[in-house]
Amino acid sequence: MATESAPHRYAQRFVTRGNVQPAGEAFAPANIALCKYWGKRDRALNLPCTDSLSVSLGALGTRTRVSFAAAESYTLNGRPVGPDANTAQDQAFAKRLQAFLDLHRLPGEHFAIETKNTIPTAAGLASSASGFAALTLALADMLDWAPCRGALSRIARLGSGSACRSLWHGFVRWRAGNDPEGSDSFAEPLSLQWLALRIGVVPISTATKSISSRAAMNATVDSSPLYQGWAECVARDMAEIESAISARDLTRLGCAAERNALAMHATMLGASTPVLYWQPETITALATVQQLRRDGISVFATMDAGPNVKVIFEEQDALAVAAHFPALQQIAPFEAIPG
Ligand code: PMV
Repeated sequence: MATESAPHRYAQRFVTRGNVQPAGEAFAPANIALCKYWGKRDRALNLPCTDSLSVSLGALGTRTRVSFAAAESYTLNGRPVGPDANTAQDQAFAKRLQAFLDLHRLPGEHFAIETKNTIPTAAGLASSASGFAALTLALADMLDWAPCRGALSRIARLGSGSACRSLWHGFVRWRAGNDPEGSDSFAEPLSLQWLALRIGVVPISTATKSISSRAAMNATVDSSPLYQGWAECVARDMAEIESAISARDLTRLGCAAERNALAMHATMLGASTPVLYWQPETITALATVQQLRRDGISVFATMDAGPNVKVIFEEQDALAVAAHFPALQQIAPFEAIPG
């Protein structure tokens, strides 16, 4: 059964202020999990039930500037967003931002936050991971937090679980840890490059999801008998993915990442109110990936909590893959890394 701890006390344990500056700024990349995080053992501290492993998306991510202000104000891609914003999505964004900043503000302090996503909205990629990672790094810059990146990863995790992996470029592993307070639950980069690796985004729909990933995750843990098998899937797939990355073996990496994503969706389908994110075009895209493999092109699929499909391949197959997915957006995770 998942528990709820007090994140405020927790945040203060990990960071203390140094030589505070008027403003801070940082960039963090988005990331795609190859072995998914799905299910929390503590919902307030975003402590996962299992390990996960991702690859960051280079220049696609979030740039955030934070400064002290007379009143709280947030902008997203130049547009003001607040708790009374027009859309439910903007309201939810402002609420989550405020809750995260509440963990770090001193009485009477207000922050102005300017957030710019370099992820095209049409790509259907989540920006919460890069958003909370960039905000954590910008706050660290402004408040002169000087802890190791592991401590910053624990802080970013409080905003969004997957944000703890977005503090680095390349492959990043998040260890679930055992400590009820999460002191051992943070991410670390794998010092491995794979220049030819490509991630492609097959945009299916950018419509607001029928159920947030957070709610879907909790519903799965609470009510899906299939969730009992998830830890076993992760143990099997994580070992294979790590070994495939070390060997730069795309087939082994792709097979394990694809079955891991499909198993995650299977656990959701077992919830008492089943969670089905897929659209007809999702199935078509997955079938195309399978057909391409039968035709000798080494391409694999992964999906997060939504209908969009991401494909994994290598540079030499880029043209063949793009020919079958006209709207494909290609990312070279180990090239175009911003400084
Ligand atoms: O970090 P959250 O709460 O947005 O959850 C992310 C969940 C998945 O994207 C489906 C998997 C993952 O590991 O990123």
